[in-house]
This record gives sequence, C-alpha cells and structure tokens, in this order.
Amino acid sequence: MSATQEVSLNPLAEAANEAIRKDCQVIFDLLSERGKRFFFPAKGILAQGAEAKQKAKTANATIGIATENGAPMYLECVHKYFSGLTSSELYDYAPSYGKADLRQAWAKKQREETPSMGTHLVSNPVVTNALTHGLSVVGELFLDPGDEALSSDLLWENYNLAWETRLGAHISYYPFFDKELKGFNVEAFSKALKERAGKKLVVSLNFPNNPSGYTPTKAEALAIVRALTEAAAEGSKLVVVCDDAYYGMFFDESCERESFFGRLCQAHPNLLAVKVDGATKEEFVWGMRVGFITYGIQNGTAGVYKAMEDKTAGVIRSVVSSVTHPGQTIVLKALQDPNFRRQQIEKIEILRKRAAVTGVECRKPEYADCWDVYPYNSGYFMCLRLKGADADTVRMKLLDEHGVGTIALGEANLRVAFSCLTEAQIPSVFSAIASAVRDLKRK
Ligand SMILES: Cc1ncc(COP(=O)(O)O)c(C=O)c1O
Repeated sequence: MSATQEVSLNPLAEAANEAIRKDCQVIFDLLSERGKRFFFPAKGILAQGAEAKQKAKTANATIGIATENGAPMYLECVHKYFSGLTSSELYDYAPSYGKADLRQAWAKKQREETPSMGTHLVSNPVVTNALTHGLSVVGELFLDPGDEALSSDLLWENYNLAWETRLGAHISYYPFFDKELKGFNVEAFSKALKERAGKKLVVSLNFPNNPSGYTPTKAEALAIVRALTEAAAEGSKLVVVCDDAYYGMFFDESCERESFFGRLCQAHPNLLAVKVDGATKEEFVWGMRVGFITYGIQNGTAGVYKAMEDKTAGVIRSVVSSVTHPGQTIVLKALQDPNFRRQQIEKIEILRKRAAVTGVECRKPEYADCWDVYPYNSGYFMCLRLKGADADTVRMKLLDEHGVGTIALGEANLRVAFSCLTEAQIPSVFSAIASAVRDLKRK
C-alpha cells in the first residue's frame, strides 16, 4: 500500500462513527483522523475470551494464559508477596475497558463527589494506565498534527511531550494568574477562548494545578464554566479535559471542591467534557497506575457513550492491551473498604498542615526581596516567582550547597513539593532558597 493510500474504515469503526453522528455530530467533528478510525474489535480475541468466560462451562480454550485448578497458574515466589488476593484477581488479564466492578465503583465515587452532575448521563469510566496514559489517549482521539490545544502557562510538562512531541499538536497558553497574583486569570482565559471563536479546540483544565497548587475559587469556577459555555454557544467546538489528578487535596474553604466535569458535562452540545482522573495521587498509589477517562456532553446518549468507550478501549488495546490487573484489584478493594474515606482524610490532613506551615514560611516578610508567592490552596505543590535570579541556577545551587531538591520551571519559577516535606523541614527549605537567591543576586 502506498503512503498516500487511505486505510479503509473497519465496519465496526463505521458503526461507532454512525452511532456518534446520529446523536452528537459535534463529537464526530472533534475526533482526530485516528479517533475516527478506532473501534473495539468486538469479535477479537479479548471479546471472544470474555464471552467464553461467561458461557464456556465445560472447557475454556480461548485466552492466552495458563491455568491450573480452574484459576490462573502462578509461581509461589510471586504469589508470596500478595496476601488476601486470589490468582484470578491478580494474574489474569483485565479487560481493555478495565475491570467492570472497578469502573462501576469509580463511577459511583465520581457522582458522590460531584453533586452538580445530578443524574446527567455520562459514559462509564474506562480504565487507563493512570492519568498520563489517559491524557495521551485523549490526545490520540482528538488531536491531529497541527491541531491546537489551550492550556494555562503553568502546566505539567508532560502535556508537551504527549500532545506536541508525540502527536504533533500545538499547545497555546494563557497566563494562569492575574498580574497581581491574586487569583485565576479569568479575563485572559476568556480572551483566549474568544480569539479562537468558532474553531475546534482542546482545552485543558488542571485543578488543583501542577505546578502552582491553585484551585479556582467558587466565583472563578463559575466564570470559567460560563466562558466555556459561551464559547460553545457562539460556535466553538470544544473538548474540555478536566485533569483531576490532585482531586480532593483542598486546603482552603474558598476553593471549588467539585470537579469542573460536573457542570461541563451538561453545559452545551458543542462542548464535550472529558474527565481524566485516577487513584494515583488521590489514593496515594503513584506506582500502581490506575486512572480513568469519562465522557460527558449535554445531548449524550447511551449509544454515543458506548461508541466512545469502544474507541477508547480500542486505543488501549492497540498500545498496552490492558491495564495492570493487580493495581485495579487493589484500588477496587480500597474503594470498597469501610475505612477508605477515614484513612484518606487522615492523609489529606497531613498535607493540609504542611501546606499551612509552608504558607507561613514562604510569606515571611524577610523573603520579600527573594520571591513572590503564587497563590495556592490545594494539591501537592506551591510555586515561587524568583526575583533577580535564574530558577535553574538557584535549583543547582540548592542541590550542591544545601542538599535541597526543587524543580525549576522556566526562567523564574521554582516549584516546591510540600507534599513530601515534613513540617520540621519546611522552614529550612525556604531559608536555603532565600540564601541561594541572595548569593546569586550579589554576583
Ligand atoms: C497535572 C497532572 N496530570 C497528570 C499527571 C499524571 O499522573 P499519573 O501518575 O497518574 O500518570 C500528573 C503527574 O504528575 C500531573 O501532575
């Protein structure tokens, strides 16, 4: 086949596209070329295997695992590290969509935490290899080379790798904070949307934000939702990605505690909301790699959501086939544990105290010559805007002369993860940063 020849659409992709076009033409228009091609192989090996799991009571010779005594075979030297879990809960392949009961439990949790969703119909969450993978899959489904995505200028750097380097899309930025560093720059955000009126746009909203640790206030949240809804009403076609990686880490009464997905999933037929969330930071299981993608749109139907879940699972099948089964099982058990919420709240309380000590230390008047503090009220991080010293040079000096690790972002920003500092360590971290900044200013 020559490079210019088009790959013909699989009939299952055609059927999925048709289901989407019938009820939500806008979602079809928003899909990338790859997104339009994708489908879940409903008669493929995994699907046949799943069918056999239900019905093959005599003998199941379908799937590529090995069994013994009716359960997945295992080595004792592996199994001894797990207690209380069966080999079927650990070693068998999970479905490409994710474990059904985990998807259900996560959907229930999302709705409980997001009262604004009400009873609005959204998709079932599809399990991803944590949020990085979720963001990549969303990019694959909606971003063609040259497409534009909009983000705040303070963002997690992996967006660039996933959406620009890998997919050839282009990220444009608006300033996250207003000039006085008082809060979210609603004006710049609204202006950026207006400048792109009538276009297709992928918008990323990440609150609590990495790197700043800021979540908009309730009033700012209202303005953000209004700006997006107005842009959609005026003809822009939007995919709004709610990156809720740090959901639940709220330390201030003023910040919006509900995911933006709740209101955006029913805002307008031109606005597809995509919730990318997961257990990584919320449940403190970073290396376990369990995340979710959930779709919601005002005129969404069961047929459209099924087609989107199929496309998503198809992309997952084509790259990693399925996501860690032990991770999914453990996260599910945790969600079902009566102690889950209490234990989670205890850990968030530890972070809240660290955020409070950080707030006192970093804002001491004696450091006014060294930095401005970007507002923060949530998440794992806070960020300093250094005065008169290059961020990476400060970072190196902190490492070499003080043994303190921080992250330099751009020329002036230094990110401090208070989430992994003890309260006792925090004062010395900021005095070390001040000392490094002053040394460099004197040079
Ligand atoms: C804003 C944001 N989104 C997504 C991720 C990815 O998280 P995960 O470890 O679940 O892939 C991170 C991780 O640092 C993040 O900061």
